[in-house]
Amino acid sequence: MKSFVFSIKYYLSAYLVLCLFSCHSFPQHTSAEDPNQSDYYQEKHRPQYHFSPEANWMNEPNGMFYYDGQYHLFYQYYPDSTVWGPMHWGHAKSTDLVHWEHLPIALFPDSLGCIFSGGAVVDTDNTSGLGSKSAPPILATFTHHNFEVQRAGRNDFQTQSVAYSIDGGSSWTKYEQNPVIANTDEIRDFRDPKVVWHQPSQQWIMVLAAYDRAKFYASKNLLEWTFLSDFGIPGDKRLWECPDFFQIKTKGSTGMKWVLIVSMQRDAPNGGTGTSYFVGDFDGTQFQSDPAQQKWLDWGTDNYAFVTWNNAPLPEEDILGIGWMSNWQYATIVPTEKWRSAMTLPRILNLVNTKGTYLLESHPVPALNQLRGEGTAYRDLAVTGIQTLDDVSFSSKTEMALKVDLQQTDASLFGLQLKNAQGEAFTISFDTKKDSMFVDRTTSGREQFSDVFYDRVHSAPVDLQSEILEVQIYFDVSSAEIFINNGELVFTSIYFPTIDFDQVAMFSKEGTCTIDQLTLYPLDDIWRSH
Ligand code: FRU
Repeated sequence: MKSFVFSIKYYLSAYLVLCLFSCHSFPQHTSAEDPNQSDYYQEKHRPQYHFSPEANWMNEPNGMFYYDGQYHLFYQYYPDSTVWGPMHWGHAKSTDLVHWEHLPIALFPDSLGCIFSGGAVVDTDNTSGLGSKSAPPILATFTHHNFEVQRAGRNDFQTQSVAYSIDGGSSWTKYEQNPVIANTDEIRDFRDPKVVWHQPSQQWIMVLAAYDRAKFYASKNLLEWTFLSDFGIPGDKRLWECPDFFQIKTKGSTGMKWVLIVSMQRDAPNGGTGTSYFVGDFDGTQFQSDPAQQKWLDWGTDNYAFVTWNNAPLPEEDILGIGWMSNWQYATIVPTEKWRSAMTLPRILNLVNTKGTYLLESHPVPALNQLRGEGTAYRDLAVTGIQTLDDVSFSSKTEMALKVDLQQTDASLFGLQLKNAQGEAFTISFDTKKDSMFVDRTTSGREQFSDVFYDRVHSAPVDLQSEILEVQIYFDVSSAEIFINNGELVFTSIYFPTIDFDQVAMFSKEGTCTIDQLTLYPLDDIWRSH
């Protein structure tokens, strides 16, 4: 099969590095910076409580697992530049999903290629035989992308491989018989293997993205894999990437469902790349779901390749994941100098069955509450026109919670706006006639690094005819994550003001907006020693 889409980034960046590059020997990069320095993580636009690399290029999260009190996070990383290049797996860990410790790079390119995305699992029963039951091995599955094979004009340049750790994730060894899945069908886009244990059939299931569909494989030992089945949207030729597959209990019921997450390389609700999902059933061979029921995990432009943690200590109705807070439309040119990109906040997903359909709700992890400083709360605010909250000194890293009494609101439009002394603004509004929310970053910065970043106001459908609208927003210097009605809808958006936003105003048009409760918490930073 031939794919006509092969991400633009590969053309732009890979070509430049290819001539110089061969995947053989690489220097060891470790975290070299001193968190006690007063300027550590203080660069312009630097998020203060989101994960971002100390320096250089990062794209999506990979291989996350929980083991021995630590949440491990790996990520697509190019340590030699702030644009995409030959991929490594960067590594960090956290005991609370809030504070992160940078670790040395876990996986380097080798003679089979560079290290593209994938997952990791704790092999508790030592099915692979690579560790022991008392010290279970952890296996990472990833794609080897071989530029030399690609340059030679062949189509089988992506293959699936394994690396393992027998010290709880600190050091990694590539499996000697890599690749574990060759690309015999010569599919140009054949990547991002993610693995999950399937209890009824007592085997591991791998899902990977093969151009316009997901492919499922099975294995008893994580090393020998058998092809099972395909799942795709008939007639839809968009490129799929970074799938994830897990079973989850429906909230408030005993029913279990399987969820297939798939990131789409184009046509996300507000343009460019985005994360979607399908809810269905899995019999150990075939995923059954209505392909017409593809849903978006996030309606904003900036949550790509959201994937989940293996082995996290959570109830059956919770699953923990994280996404890459950017969009391939502009990721390589956003105006940050030392590093590029951050992750979203870690989020708990819950499956709910509402109005005859299954939905994934997203919630920021509760551990974030430890970052709250002294809150300011307002009650019973009637907003007419523009009302700047003068009595609160607005921090660019703020959690804001808003409860709007929709029955007592007759405004046609209401919302909030962040501003700065440069006249730049970031606006979130709700249109009661259109039952929609809007996120306007068109005037959020004067560094016009990209047309598509600023070209239009983004939107999502929100029911504004009910009793109450609940909005929870996490602002972090250059990002907003907006959780609507208990995470029923999420909207993630990044922005780059010339100077930090330091004012917030509420507004309403053609009537009053009645706010039952408005709370603002300044949030602490996570990077510097206090
Ligand atoms: C998604 C992606 C993956 C690939 C990785 C390479 O953003 O294209 O499919 O493994 O990035 O960095």
